[in-house]
Amino acid sequence: MATPLRQTILITGASSGLGEGMAKVFAARGRDLVLCARRLDRLENLASTLRRAYPRQRFLVRALDVNDAQAVWQVFLDAHQTLGRVDRIVVNAGRGGASRLGEGQVGDAMDVARTNFLGALAQCDAAMRLFRQQGFGHLVTLSSVSAVRGMPGAMATYSASKAAVAVLSEALRNEMKAANSPIRITTLMPGFIHTDLNAHQAHKPFAVDVETGSRALVRAIEQEPGVAYVPGWPWALLARLLKWLPASQLPGAQASITTAAPSSTN
Ligand SMILES: NC(=O)c1ccc[n+]([C@@H]2O[C@H](COP(=O)([O-])OP(=O)(O)OC[C@H]3O[C@@H](n4cnc5c(N)ncnc54)[C@H](OP(=O)(O)O)[C@@H]3O)[C@@H](O)[C@H]2O)c1
Repeated sequence: MATPLRQTILITGASSGLGEGMAKVFAARGRDLVLCARRLDRLENLASTLRRAYPRQRFLVRALDVNDAQAVWQVFLDAHQTLGRVDRIVVNAGRGGASRLGEGQVGDAMDVARTNFLGALAQCDAAMRLFRQQGFGHLVTLSSVSAVRGMPGAMATYSASKAAVAVLSEALRNEMKAANSPIRITTLMPGFIHTDLNAHQAHKPFAVDVETGSRALVRAIEQEPGVAYVPGWPWALLARLLKWLPASQLPGAQASITTAAPSSTN
């Protein structure tokens, strides 16, 4: 079945990395965009560049912290009222990092979980509310290849948060299918793509640059599959292999092996 043209696209986390990269690719494809993130100066710079390159298209900029659920709904609703429709919403905002659990840094891990899952939950809720009112729409969530297994060490919380995103979007997809709804839901499972999110990480097998990764993401999104590993090669295959890899070979495992003796304090 041919996929409809999604002319107006809202992207969260558009101030850097994949959000910015996808915005550039969608703009080159003639789309109108709503660019959201907290760093307004970066969004304004991106929008100015895009307006100069594509003067006939519309580029809105909205400050948004996805951890503020009320603000998420207000921004999505405002985008709809300003543009008359929102055809696609890309739930992209997210953060990496977090310390290994058990090191007294749970606040950082909770922030990763909050932004990556509760922030995504608020965005999915607002997107579904808007799409149900419109009667159409394409919701895209950014999970990760790291969601196919519980990744050890400093990746544990991130991997768990991305698994939660994948299950949430699968649930919404099942709901829309059961209702025979025209609303489409896509879960993206990217492999390593060089961005600020993983700049600190030494071991990033098969990593691609942000332009290559963003083009691959947009190609996958436009086909509107249920789930897509991106780039398809090698990640569709590697994701299967990851399920069988010994724990000691998983990303994050080496860094988590410690020689420190257990603390005697209780
Ligand atoms: N790069 C990879 O290899 C990879 C692989 C799999 C999945 N992903 C996923 O892809 C998405 C984009 O990541 P990236 O690699 O492009 O990282 P990035 O360059 O660090 O970009 C993250 C974006 O999220 C925004 N953001 C973070 N916290 C936010 C908040 N509370 N409210 C609103 N926006 C927030 C940031 O904008 P502000 O700071 O301006 O708000 C920024 O624009 C993430 O969900 C990530 O988990 C990335």
